[in-house]
Amino acid sequence: MPRAAITSVGHYVPETVYPNSYFEQYLDTSDAWIVERTGIRERRFACNGATSDLIIPAARQCLERRGISAEDIDCIIVATVTPDYFFPSTAAVVQRKLGATRAWGFDLSAACSGFIYALVVAAKLVEAGFSRRLLLCGADKMSSIVNFDDRATAVLFGDGGGVVLLEPSDNPDVGVLDAVLYMNGEGGQYLYMPAGGSAKPPSLETVQNKEHYVFQEGRTVFKEAVIRMAEVTLQIMERNGLRAEDIAWLVPHQANLRIITATAERMGLSMDKVMVNIDRYGNTTAATIPLCLSEWYQAGKLDYGDRLILVSFGAGYTWGAVYLRWSLPKPD
Ligand code: COA
Repeated sequence: MPRAAITSVGHYVPETVYPNSYFEQYLDTSDAWIVERTGIRERRFACNGATSDLIIPAARQCLERRGISAEDIDCIIVATVTPDYFFPSTAAVVQRKLGATRAWGFDLSAACSGFIYALVVAAKLVEAGFSRRLLLCGADKMSSIVNFDDRATAVLFGDGGGVVLLEPSDNPDVGVLDAVLYMNGEGGQYLYMPAGGSAKPPSLETVQNKEHYVFQEGRTVFKEAVIRMAEVTLQIMERNGLRAEDIAWLVPHQANLRIITATAERMGLSMDKVMVNIDRYGNTTAATIPLCLSEWYQAGKLDYGDRLILVSFGAGYTWGAVYLRWSLPKPD
C-alpha cells in the first residue's frame, strides 16, 4: 500500500486584526489576563463571508504551489464546526466555488480535533487507492458562534482556514506513518453549542437565551486537555520508538499556550521545536494545525523527512495524535 503524503499546503486568515485591547473596551478583561492565561495577543475575525470563504483562498494557494488545477482534485474533506449550512455540506460549497468538478466529498465534525480526525480518514482513502488527490480543509468561522458579551469565551477564538493536499507516495519513509484517535462522549456537556440542532431546534427562546453560542466550562476542559494531550503524545512516541531528539516539530492544536507548554514539557521537548501561533490567531478550531503547517512551510522551517507529531484535544471530548514525516522540500 502506498503512503499518504502531504504534497502541498495553503492557509488564509481574514485581514481584520482584533487585538486584546478590543475586548478591554467593553468587557471586564485585560490584555495582561488574556496573555497570561491563554497566550493570545490578537486574532482575526471575518467581517463578511462564510467558512467556505476562509477555505477558498487557502485552497487556491495550495493548488498553485503544487501546480495543479481544481479539476485535478478527486475528493474534498472539510473539518469544521461552523459549516456554511447544515446541508449541503461545506465540502459541496467548496467544490462549487473552487470549480473542483470531479471531486466528491463530505464534512467531518470533531471540533478542535477535526483536522487530526480528518487527516486519518483522508490518509486511509489515499492509502486504499480510493483517492489520488485529496484536498483536506480545516476551517472555522468561530466569530459566527461566539458570544461577544461573554468574556470567558469571546477572547479565546479566531477565524481561519488551512488546507493540505494528500497524494499517494511510493516512498515508505515519508507521509502519515501512525495515528491514535480517542473520544469520550461523557465530556460533551463541558464544551458545546446547546441549541440549533435537533436536540434543541432554534426558537425565539433559544435565541433570547443565547444558546446558539459556544458554552465552555473552561477549567474542566483545561484539566482534561492537559492530561490527554500529554498522554496521547507519549503514546505515539512510545509506539514508534521516538525520543524527543528525533522530533523536528510538535504541531499542537492552539487552544491555550499553557496546555501546549505542558505537553512539550511531558515530551521533554524544548519550546523552539513547538509550532506556536496562538498569539496571533487565537483558537481557530479545525484550522489551527494546517495553519501552522502552512506557515512553517512558507517560512522554510520544514524540511523533507522532518518527523512531526500533530496532537489535538477538543469538544466531544475528542483527541488524538498523528506521526508523520514531512514529504516536501523547503520552498525556493
Ligand atoms: N478576563 C478576565 N477574567 C476572566 C476572563 C477574562 N477574559 N475569563 C474568565 N475570567 C475569570 C473567571 O470569571 C474566573 O473568575 P472567578 O474566579 O472570579 O470565578 C477566573 O478568571 C478564573 O477562571 P478560570 O476559568 O478558572 O480560568 P482559567 O485559568 O481556567 O482560564 C481558560 C480560562 C478558558 C483560558 C482556560 O480554562 C482554558 O483554556 N480552557 C480550555 C480551553 C480548551 O482547551 N478548549 C478545548 C479546545 S477548544
